[in-house]
Amino acid sequence: MLVDGKEYRSIQLKPGEREVVRIIDQTFLPHEFRLVDLVTLEDFCRAISTMQVRGAGLIGATAAFGMVSAARQAPRQSFEADIADAAAQLCATRPTAANLAWAVSQVQTAIDTADGIDNKIEAAFEAAQAVLEGDAETSRRIGLHGLEIIRALAARKASGPLNILTHCNAGCLAFVDHGTATAPIYAAQAAGIDLHVWVDETRPRNQGAALTAWELAAQGVPHDLIVDNAGGHLMQHGLVDMVIVGADRVTRRGDVANKIGTYLKALAAHDNGIPFFVALPCSTFDFSMDDGLAEIPIEERDPHELSHVVGRLPSGELGEVLICPQQTSARNYGFDVTPARLITKLICEHGVCDAEPNSIATLLMKGA
Ligand code: MRU
Repeated sequence: MLVDGKEYRSIQLKPGEREVVRIIDQTFLPHEFRLVDLVTLEDFCRAISTMQVRGAGLIGATAAFGMVSAARQAPRQSFEADIADAAAQLCATRPTAANLAWAVSQVQTAIDTADGIDNKIEAAFEAAQAVLEGDAETSRRIGLHGLEIIRALAARKASGPLNILTHCNAGCLAFVDHGTATAPIYAAQAAGIDLHVWVDETRPRNQGAALTAWELAAQGVPHDLIVDNAGGHLMQHGLVDMVIVGADRVTRRGDVANKIGTYLKALAAHDNGIPFFVALPCSTFDFSMDDGLAEIPIEERDPHELSHVVGRLPSGELGEVLICPQQTSARNYGFDVTPARLITKLICEHGVCDAEPNSIATLLMKGA
């Protein structure tokens, strides 16, 4: 991704240092662009749980390097037990994104398969690198498949830009690079397609306002920020041509867990005959689950995120304000489940399929 004309990834090794991982601290965006170095297992766990990094793919890549750090820190005599403990700690940081446990298991398998502690540490590093590079390449390919959908919808428009609505941030900042929901948008921009993005603010943490708006601006994509409840109104008035969102976990039959509010956008899109797409890497599928509503664990976060808002004060300082009565009790559900029947197509690195078990299985077999 471009930041002030310079290429960055949301996570990368510190140049020249294999043992230090550098992230963009997303808790300061869009106000300040700060890079933070992660070294210890505690650094990695904190970065994920406090949402310095967030988004399914980036959480996975960060956790993979957390496992490498744990392998380096572990005393030889308790190596296996310490690695198992680190895996459990990392998996507990955020429960909803399937990519987290997937990435941890990729590194765990590499450790288990290598002989000798030094080889295990090296194997862990190589597996984490593969998770990171794989994530970037996967997103790039999702962009190319999604581009064809955007091209077809744009060709049907008599005039004006193709209006795309997105929720939360499934962008460069949520993955290693390119994003998932945003990858087709960036590919379409590069192909010269006239488009415009409606950006849901995405309460309570405002990933749309703070992150998606920031990265679309940095890439020069025309967009407007809207309140979370505006989507239905825009759809009723013909101002949305398609919706594209990311995913944190997708079941065997195609039910999608994504940021809270996604389900309401899918309902409104369905009611207005607007195509609703979900873009995801295959590592987001969880084939151990079928009925998303019954089975996907939904993270409930600190109500403080709901009762307070962080922003830049007139003084120029960053500050936090209370927006409800001090004593009001609040429940902060982080995600919801959109049933497969409301989804037009899933866009993965191997192609496009229906949100339906056979179509998903066929696509995955094609990629295997
Ligand atoms: O709580 P977050 O910011 O980690 O939420 C996850 C997400 O980024 C969204 O749900 C996103 O739309 C899909 S994951 C890239």
